[in-house]
Amino acid sequence: MSDVRRRLMTRKSNIGETRLADSPAHGELRDGEVVLALDRFSLTTNNITYAAYGDAIGYWRVFPTGENDLGMMPVWGFADVAASRAPGVDVGARVFGYFPMADTLVVQAEKIRRGGFADASPWRKAVPDIYNRYVLCAADRHYSAALENSEALFRPLFITAYTAVDFLRENQFFGARRIVVSSASSKTAYGAAWCLADDDVTVMALTGARNRAFVEGLGVYDAVHGYEAVEGLETGMPTLYLDLAGDAALRRRLHARFGTDLTYDCLVGSTQSDSFTADDPALTGPKPVFFFAATCLDQHRTQGTLHAFYDRFLADQRAFFGRVVDPVSPWIHIVEHGGLEAARGVIRDLADGVSDPMEGAIVRIAR
Ligand SMILES: NC(=O)c1ccc[n+]([C@@H]2O[C@H](COP(=O)([O-])OP(=O)(O)OC[C@H]3O[C@@H](n4cnc5c(N)ncnc54)[C@H](OP(=O)(O)O)[C@@H]3O)[C@@H](O)[C@H]2O)c1
Repeated sequence: MSDVRRRLMTRKSNIGETRLADSPAHGELRDGEVVLALDRFSLTTNNITYAAYGDAIGYWRVFPTGENDLGMMPVWGFADVAASRAPGVDVGARVFGYFPMADTLVVQAEKIRRGGFADASPWRKAVPDIYNRYVLCAADRHYSAALENSEALFRPLFITAYTAVDFLRENQFFGARRIVVSSASSKTAYGAAWCLADDDVTVMALTGARNRAFVEGLGVYDAVHGYEAVEGLETGMPTLYLDLAGDAALRRRLHARFGTDLTYDCLVGSTQSDSFTADDPALTGPKPVFFFAATCLDQHRTQGTLHAFYDRFLADQRAFFGRVVDPVSPWIHIVEHGGLEAARGVIRDLADGVSDPMEGAIVRIAR
């Protein structure tokens, strides 16, 4: 079945609920406009968090639907330039970037360089620059067609893990000797643990019962515990909390357990929450500090260190991909789902928290 001119919208009040509908017609292309035909995209809990923070951070505004109660949940993926009235952006070029779940996206290309371009559409100003840039694959010396699935799945997550570890390292881990990581089965969490392999800190995983065997099997954490074990965790060691779960009750329990040993609370993810809960009057110890990868990248751009950062990041990311999809003992299996209709079940499972961490979900748009 063809997905041509279809879009998959999300009910804002119930993120697991989606509606497949025709996309509105765009009309004649104007100067500078480019039509991107989405080919493949990834789905992970990160996308669910975009939707959960759709109003708070502005993700609902990035790809407007014209409907109040339905939004376009953003995804990361690869597309082909299907039509172009932007000199320097050629029909047939392959791009990587941020998309709505729709067969096509029309962008207003600006800042066109050899390596890529940005969408100047005014509604995209709702989010940091990084979300509005499209990488031209032909100019990316690290691009490999064979790694597109890994790239779509992990790039936004690994860059978060990587920049978060950079940030913690630059701050000497805030004096901690141990890092406790929640939602340790998430790709962002184990990406961070992989980055920390050679640092002089122990990395302890916290995860749910159903994901514990998976997390143990990764071998990147020095110890793995279930959430129920928090009150029995060893104390007496300076400890940093790397929070991917965003669960306020879990945070309170950890703060109470570690007391003055807790040196820093780094809030990165919200796999188990759909509201900002950093301001919690019942919380003892350090106030959680939100870490936003996009801000880090914007800082690199401002400081003129972005190219150097990407050189280092892309080389390390290649090594990480090698480990994740290692043919002999892969951490995950990538499963391709055919078409937007098939994406609906994947989104439902992610929103319900019942996805298998062994499976990395890619959606291919049928043409
Ligand atoms: N701050 C930033 O710049 C930034 C950037 C990228 C991603 N993130 C955040 O990082 C987090 C992880 O994303 P990901 O894509 O890496 O996740 P993922 O690979 O899809 O992993 C999801 C894991 O989260 C937990 N989980 C998910 N939904 C749940 C639910 N409904 N109830 C209970 N547990 C649930 C489970 O882990 P456990 O059983 O181990 O808890 C699950 O295995 C997201 O919140 C994402 O937004 C933040």
